[in-house]
Amino acid sequence: MAIELYGPRHAKALRHAGRTAALTLRHVGERLKSGLTTADIDAMVRRDTETRGGIPSQLGYDGFPAAVCTSLNSVVCHGIPSKQVKLVRGDIINVDVTTEISGFHGDTSETFFIDDSDDVSAEAKHVVDVSRRCLAAGISVVRDGSRVGDIGAAISELAHAEGCSVVEGVGGHGIGRKMHMEPHIPHHGRAGTGVRLRTGMVFTIEPMINLGSPAIVFLPDGWTIQTEDGSLSAQFEHTVWVTDTGCEVLTELSTDPSD
Ligand code: MF3
Ligand code: CO
Ligand code: CO
Repeated sequence: MAIELYGPRHAKALRHAGRTAALTLRHVGERLKSGLTTADIDAMVRRDTETRGGIPSQLGYDGFPAAVCTSLNSVVCHGIPSKQVKLVRGDIINVDVTTEISGFHGDTSETFFIDDSDDVSAEAKHVVDVSRRCLAAGISVVRDGSRVGDIGAAISELAHAEGCSVVEGVGGHGIGRKMHMEPHIPHHGRAGTGVRLRTGMVFTIEPMINLGSPAIVFLPDGWTIQTEDGSLSAQFEHTVWVTDTGCEVLTELSTDPSD
C-alpha cells in the first residue's frame, strides 16, 4: 500500500485529532500523583476523551484491554493499566494517549515524574531528559526530501552520546485515518537511507530510550514490553505532518496555559 498523503483539506481534522489527544494527555499529566493506580489513569483518559467527543483508539485495538498505555519505570511501552499497580513517589511513568475524532487519530505520550522532579533519582531524570531531547532531535530532521533513516540516525546519535540505548523492533508509524499505518519509523538507522519523506505524510516519532541495554522482553500478558536488564526506560511521542521545509507537530500545545 502506498503511504497516504494529507493536504490542506485535511488540516482542520488532523489538527483537531492531534490537539484532542494532547489535551487529554495534559489533563492526565496534571493529575498524576503517588497513590493513584494505573487503572485510575485509564479511567481519567476514558472520561476526558469522551468529554471531548473522541474515542480512545487503543481500546480493543488487536484486543488491547484498556484506553491508554501506562508504562512504569522499566516498562518500555504498552503497559496495561491495572488496579494492582500504584504510583509511588520517585517513579517515572509514560502515559500514551491516542484519540480518534473527526475521522483521524492523534497519538502522543510523555514520561512524567511522580510526584515531582525532586523526588526522582538523577538516573531517572537523565533518561527522561534524553528521551525528550531524542524526540526533538528526530523531529528536527523531518522535511520533504529527507529520509526515514535520518530520523533514526539523529535519535540514536544523541542517545548514545548521552550513554543511553535505543529500543529497536518497536517504532513510530504512519497515522491518519487509522492509528497504525505505513511507514514504519525506526528510532535507529543510517542517515540517507530508507523511505523518502514527502510533504503531506503524517507519522509518529516515539523513541524508547533505555538507561542500560537496549534488549527488551515481553511479559506473559502479551503486551507489556520491559527492559531485559530491568533498567529504566523513558519515551516521548508526537504526531507530525511533513511540510516542504519541516513539519507541523500536530500534538504540540503551546506553552500558554490558556491554550
Ligand atoms: N499509542 C501506541 C503507539 O504509540 C499504540 C499502542 S497499541 C496498543 O503506537 F494496542 F497497545 F494500544
Ligand atoms: Co504511536
Ligand atoms: Co502512542
